[in-house]
Amino acid sequence: MNQPLSEYLVYLNNELHFGPSRQKLSQYCNETPTYVYDLDFIKQRYLHLQSPWPLAEIHYAMKANAHPEILRTLQKAGAGVDTVSGGEIQRALENGFKPNQVVFSGIGKTIAEIDYAIDQNVEQINVESLPELQRIADRAKLKNKKATVAFRVNPNVDIKTHPYIATGLHENKFGLEISAWPEIRDILKRNTDTLNFVGLSMHLGSMMLELDGFHEALKKYKTFFQEIRRDGFAISRFDIGGGLGINYQKQNLLEESELLGQYVEIVKSVTEGMDIELQLEPGRWIVAHGGVLISEIQYVKETPYKNFLILNTGMHHLIRPSLYEAYHGIYPMVYDQARKNKKYDVVGPICESSDFLAKDRYLQESRAGEFVVIADAGAYGARMASDYNLQKRPLEICF
Ligand SMILES: Cc1ncc(COP(=O)(O)O)c(C=O)c1O
Repeated sequence: MNQPLSEYLVYLNNELHFGPSRQKLSQYCNETPTYVYDLDFIKQRYLHLQSPWPLAEIHYAMKANAHPEILRTLQKAGAGVDTVSGGEIQRALENGFKPNQVVFSGIGKTIAEIDYAIDQNVEQINVESLPELQRIADRAKLKNKKATVAFRVNPNVDIKTHPYIATGLHENKFGLEISAWPEIRDILKRNTDTLNFVGLSMHLGSMMLELDGFHEALKKYKTFFQEIRRDGFAISRFDIGGGLGINYQKQNLLEESELLGQYVEIVKSVTEGMDIELQLEPGRWIVAHGGVLISEIQYVKETPYKNFLILNTGMHHLIRPSLYEAYHGIYPMVYDQARKNKKYDVVGPICESSDFLAKDRYLQESRAGEFVVIADAGAYGARMASDYNLQKRPLEICF
């Protein structure tokens, strides 16, 4: 068969090929499950996202995938980086990012991490609570330095995503309430020698596929931004976070471009005339399509109730299906026209019933020893992997 499954997964002579350069995936079959990343594809995704706003700063959210080669590729392409731990800051600096390209987010920054960020002079610390703000001021005072801060605001808006990846509602642990402004202002006024307040940040959650909530949040955020300016703070940075969704099921890049177009229109219409420096923190949109996970079928177990494909990968390498009931396309490495399709639960070796990659999925009749390819695994895959059950961690290979 010569047939495209999507723009970036294609059967050529019955073998699965990946990426715009059509790499034959069977060359990456290993005994250990293997993530394969297409660096050029990832760079193209970044450039595509970046092109509508040449003046914005795009801080790639490296939690999605912190592979050093991916970081170096994006840094060379012009990206900055959004980090959420001292470890991420360190890895970003080791891979070419300059301190003034690093934003430090996250709700649980320790003293050691704040000290490190201040010592390294990172571009901006996105603050998520009043005690954190006070801690940053105190640490900067000890060092006789000024820390550059922006506030992550929680606008209490529903973006209609899985509850575990929604972050912009009152019930979520993220961000400062707009109503906390009087207390924030007091801390700022008491600490003018240590805090350099530059703007607001927001991140509503991940996998936004419809943008009404985003639009509503942006308008609230603009009103708050203007109120702060009226209070005499000359802020300029407007960090709209990440969260733009991708299409795991349809794998349709054109539809994603259209969604990006709507996103750009909304941001431009809300921010027009505001005289701001726009910042973004996308993760998934840049890297998800650029990675696949390759795994070997260990057993085909058929019972009167279910058919199972038991792989040597599972929730310990790709936890998204177990954690968020997320969908990933799964395809045989080699297509065999003579075989019928059969319904399978595709599961891993881990001793948990939540260890599955797909349920009731139709795949060609499969055999032990054959390989399958799990698509769109470039974001929140390897980075969330563990060695649970003392299984081997996955390999990661870039081309
Ligand atoms: C603060 C922050 N910014 C950006 C992102 C990136 O989100 P996404 O990968 O959905 O673009 C995240 C993800 O959780 C985040 O927590």
